Amino acid sequence: MNTNETEALRQKEIMERLKVRISDISKELGRPLTYCSICFGCQMNAKDSEKLEGILETIGYVRTDSEDCDFLIMNTCTVRENANLRVYGRLGQLKKYKKNNPHMMIALCGCMMQESLVVEKIKESYRHVDIIFGTHNVFKLAELIETKLDTKGMVIDIWEGTSEIVEDLPSERKYDFKCGVNIMFGCNNFCTYCIVPYVRGRERSRRPEDIIKEIKELVADGVVEIMLLGQNVNSYGKNLEPKITFAQLLTQVEQIEGLKRIRFMTSHPKDLSDELIEVMAKSKKICRHLHLPFQAGSSRVLKDMNRCYTKEQYLELVDKIRTAMPDISLTTDIIVGFPTETEEDFKETLDVVRRVRYDSAFTFIYSKRTGTPAANMEYVSTDEEIKERFDKLLSEVQSIAKETCGRYEGTTQEVLVEGVNEQDPSLVTGRLSNNLLVHFPGTSDMIGRFMDVKLTEAKGFYYLGETV
Ligand code: 5AD
Ligand code: SF4
Repeated sequence: MNTNETEALRQKEIMERLKVRISDISKELGRPLTYCSICFGCQMNAKDSEKLEGILETIGYVRTDSEDCDFLIMNTCTVRENANLRVYGRLGQLKKYKKNNPHMMIALCGCMMQESLVVEKIKESYRHVDIIFGTHNVFKLAELIETKLDTKGMVIDIWEGTSEIVEDLPSERKYDFKCGVNIMFGCNNFCTYCIVPYVRGRERSRRPEDIIKEIKELVADGVVEIMLLGQNVNSYGKNLEPKITFAQLLTQVEQIEGLKRIRFMTSHPKDLSDELIEVMAKSKKICRHLHLPFQAGSSRVLKDMNRCYTKEQYLELVDKIRTAMPDISLTTDIIVGFPTETEEDFKETLDVVRRVRYDSAFTFIYSKRTGTPAANMEYVSTDEEIKERFDKLLSEVQSIAKETCGRYEGTTQEVLVEGVNEQDPSLVTGRLSNNLLVHFPGTSDMIGRFMDVKLTEAKGFYYLGETV
């Protein structure tokens, strides 16, 4: 047994012990103990939260959406400053629940906790927090709860980094029919604006056999769509022995019987290989969607961002992808107001948007992150100029997306039904291969099934349709 397997077993033993303790407290109170899980940030965080929820359910907590609960866990994001501010705001509001419930525990984890200044601030100003841990030791939640039950004071356990990948612990799935699967952790790219490499550590890939085993188990359990997750999936396998490429992994995943759809997130343009394009183009299961962040249009700004490609190389890549897969839907991330961005540079960003014509784009105003190289760069534009650029970009992105998204109006497409429509219960909502949503008349028994749907009306970012 290797050290990671021993660790998984140790955690499972702790969970068994905790089950008894939680059940005792619950008997004493005459009610089940509840947990509330709050998650900020990206798909990787969402996946970590599923693991945390899996542990909490295993030891006997029952889920609630109310923050007035017995165990509140907040998984934090620090990619932009406003994500941090939201956490502090929320934490302040929790004090009142804790006052009325002596059993309540508050735990904080995720990217923000990997910053020592944040932990200092919480220790000083938010004494009602019970447990703090980071991104590298999510698997230890049960152990940290046990420690908290046995000690007074805050339990803090932050790891600087790790080479460990602890497999095979419980995970609570949000949907029965689709699921995210981590294929790698961390990032080695050090884009100069980005804090992720500092809080998520160096790139580590999971072994292909562990990934395949997990997906086969998910499929046996009814999952038909998976999303392979990594900060930069295109560099998957580089640190494995024997080496394997992301395209080769996809080929193996494709062979899993019963699996119908494969998605992945996120792709760095500098590492997107011809081999991947070829595998995607041939595939019957890989969805017709690629999220390909370009961040900025100006080659000079891209250099300052350490993105390792030029505007021309990015556009060539898009051409290559579109030639191989004319029906592909492209989405992207864009940052406005990077410190060295001038009005001229911004025009290059608009130019890329107009040429590529994305199906949708996430647009962000640059946010200074302490400790990153860009934090020491001088701004060449004012806040007002940056805000003006942002508004211009947003309206351009939205009007193009409206046209681009509507291109399938009138066609019939296969959709995976995800749920009953929240506004109108006579409708269900399904997702197309290209990631767009369609609402059409249906019933809850369709959830998790594939249906052929005629897209009768394009509504901008979604469709209305009817089954055929
Ligand atoms: N400021 C603004 N946006 C950022 N992103 C990452 N770091 C920052 C930052 N400091 C954006 C990038 C990335 C997405 C996940 O978040 O566009 O692709
Ligand atoms: Fe951040 Fe760049 Fe890594 Fe993405 S690739 S997580 S933007 S450093």
